[in-house]
Amino acid sequence: MSSQPQTKHDPGDHTTNSAASGDDVSENYRDLVSRYATYAPIYDRRFAVYSRRTLSKAVEAIPEDAKRIIDVACGTGLFGEMLRHRRPDLELLGVDISPDMVEVARHRFDGHESYQWDVGRAESLPADDASFDVLTCNNAFHLVERPMDGLAEFHRVLRPGGWLILVDWCREYPTMLALHGWLRLVGRHRRDVRTRAELTELVGQAGFEIDAVERFKAGWFWGLMRITAVSPGSGQRTEE
Ligand SMILES: C[S@@+](CC[C@H](N)C(=O)[O-])C[C@H]1O[C@@H](n2cnc3c(N)ncnc32)[C@H](O)[C@@H]1O
Repeated sequence: MSSQPQTKHDPGDHTTNSAASGDDVSENYRDLVSRYATYAPIYDRRFAVYSRRTLSKAVEAIPEDAKRIIDVACGTGLFGEMLRHRRPDLELLGVDISPDMVEVARHRFDGHESYQWDVGRAESLPADDASFDVLTCNNAFHLVERPMDGLAEFHRVLRPGGWLILVDWCREYPTMLALHGWLRLVGRHRRDVRTRAELTELVGQAGFEIDAVERFKAGWFWGLMRITAVSPGSGQRTEE
C-alpha cells in the first residue's frame, strides 16, 4: 500500500492478535472467534457461490473515484480477491475479529502491499480517523454485538463524504425469517437478522445520509439487502 493504513490501538484495546482472549471481549465474541477458527480452512470452498453472489453487490457499489477502502469483518479476504481483479487501483485494509480468518487472507495476499490485514473488532477498528473513502461490511453486520458502536466507528474512520456499503442478511424473506427464528432458538452466538427498515434506521441514527436501500436473493434460500450511505460531509457520488 503506498501510504500504509495507520494502526491505532487505544489502551485497553485487545483486538490485535488477541481478539479472542482480551478481558473486555464478551463470551459471545469468544464463542464466535472459536467458531470461525473451525470455519477458516473450509470457508472459501463451502461458501464460494454465496460469496460470489453477495460480494459482487458490494463491489458494484464502490464509487469510481475511491482510493482507500476498509473491509470490516473481512473474513478470509474473498472481497479483496474480487476487488483485486475488478478494481486493481484500490488500497484495502481488511479487519476481522477472527485471527484464523485473517491468517487465511494474509496468506492469500502474501506479497501484495496494497492489501493489509489486521485483527480487530467492528466496535474498535485499528485505523485512524477519516482515513478511508469507503467502508464495506459484508455478510457480517448481523453478528456485530453493539451495532451502534460499530456504526460510530465506521463514521470515525470514513472521511467526510465517504461511503458506507453494508451487505447483510434480510429478514423480509420467508427463508430468512425462518433462519432468524431457528438461530434464536439454537444459535450459539448472537445474530440480529434485520429488515431493511430496521437497518436503515440504525444507519440513519448513526448520522449517515442514506443513498439507496435494496434487497436481493442469492440463490433460492439466501435473502439479503444492500444499503449505501454517505458519511456527512461534502462527498458526491461521481459515477451517477
Ligand atoms: C460470514 S463471515 C463473512 C466474511 C466476509 N465479509 C465475506 O463476506 O466473505 C462473517 C465474518 O464476520 C466476522 N465478525 C463477526 N463479528 C465481528 C466483529 N464484531 N468485528 C469484526 N469481525 C467480525 C467473523 O469473524 C467472520 O469472519
